[in-house]
Amino acid sequence: MENNICGYAPTFEFDSISFSKFLLLFSEIVENTAKVMDGHLQRTTYISAHLAETLGLSENEVKFLIISSMLHDIGLLFVIKLGFVEELDKLDRSALIDHGELGRWVVKEMSFLEGHERIAEIIRFHHVDYSPGLENRIPVESLVLVGADKLEVIARKYKQPWMYKKEIMEAFSESKLYAPVREAICKLIKDAPLVFWYNLFLSRRAKREYLEALLGDIPLKFNASNFLKISKTIATLVDFRSPVTSTHSARVSSLAEAIGEMMELPARKRFLLKIAGLLHDIGKLVVPIDILEKPARLSPVEYAIVQTHIYFSYRFLRQIGMPAELVEAASFHHERLDGSGYPFGITGDCMYIGARIMQVADVFAALCEKRPYKDRWDKGVVLSTIKAEVEGGRLCRKVYDVVEERFDELYAISEKAARDAKNRFEGFLMNVAIGKEKLAEIMGF
Ligand SMILES: [Fe+2]
Ligand SMILES: [Fe+2]
Ligand SMILES: [Fe+2]
Repeated sequence: MENNICGYAPTFEFDSISFSKFLLLFSEIVENTAKVMDGHLQRTTYISAHLAETLGLSENEVKFLIISSMLHDIGLLFVIKLGFVEELDKLDRSALIDHGELGRWVVKEMSFLEGHERIAEIIRFHHVDYSPGLENRIPVESLVLVGADKLEVIARKYKQPWMYKKEIMEAFSESKLYAPVREAICKLIKDAPLVFWYNLFLSRRAKREYLEALLGDIPLKFNASNFLKISKTIATLVDFRSPVTSTHSARVSSLAEAIGEMMELPARKRFLLKIAGLLHDIGKLVVPIDILEKPARLSPVEYAIVQTHIYFSYRFLRQIGMPAELVEAASFHHERLDGSGYPFGITGDCMYIGARIMQVADVFAALCEKRPYKDRWDKGVVLSTIKAEVEGGRLCRKVYDVVEERFDELYAISEKAARDAKNRFEGFLMNVAIGKEKLAEIMGF
């Protein structure tokens, strides 16, 4: 069978997961990162779709414009202090360049997405002011996205924007836009029926339904290989936001898969463990980087914020319709057998083996990692710390027995995963740094 991963190729059980759910999830994660992002990506996409119609873009251009609009600010996940920005048009120059370039390199990773190279380019230029000839240097979809993004940011300043069409149009007279895009925006502001504005600003639900239908037409095959690629992209997003976390999901995934194999679990369960490891901290995407990187112990409030990540992991994975077993393995990793874990506080009898393995893998990985407030721990201390948790009745003894017996092997697997991740992370940072210089030049900064 094609795309056979660990001897297992899921065919039917991911049917409930669709491409539109993933894109909606990505946009919601970005919209969750800061108050100022609220609704921005989905509203921008809604506007883009209407502009595309007026501008008569080709079928492919429309498709790429829609996908890039949904993802365009994904680079903001990496921007520090976003929580202190009051309006999106108050982002400073370096934040504008950073998130364009970061977004580009994140989307370049999305090889499961048809046209991802082009989509990455469109996103890269979504804040470039128009100057004569620009339409020959950047994708036409970028020129439209710049306008859609601006309209959203300006219109959202009014409670009932449809009553301030004149003011909104005036605001556009100052912005540097590609003339056909400016005309299309003015036409949209003038002629759109009230339902356009109501959908845009009064109902999250209406927008979601509209976007689901729009994205539903874009085909993406969910086979095991694509599924793994998507999970790897998510792990990259989670890990690469900060050097502190840069190897974590990679370590956990390889440890969980290896322990599963040593415990002779069937291929299907091992595959789910590998994916669960990649996705287990997806909820960390809504934890501000400032907290992840704080060079000291966290305050009680900061710690409380970090703890919520597991709840978001659970919500996000359920939302995209992952199999229950995978959701549990991924989002029970802070539960403990004696009920002392969080956020569910469930006890061992409610946890199947996948969740127990993930709990050990997560502790194992964390102990091997350097944090701003602690060094990485010695090999011996890693094992004795896990053992103490087992003796205390918090982690699973059956899992521990395997870990103890084959500790050196597991340690080497975890180190290799971390080395590979570190190399990829350094490559990523280098690409972004080089790209940023060029982008700044094109933006005239
Ligand atoms: Fe942006
Ligand atoms: Fe934006
Ligand atoms: Fe976690």
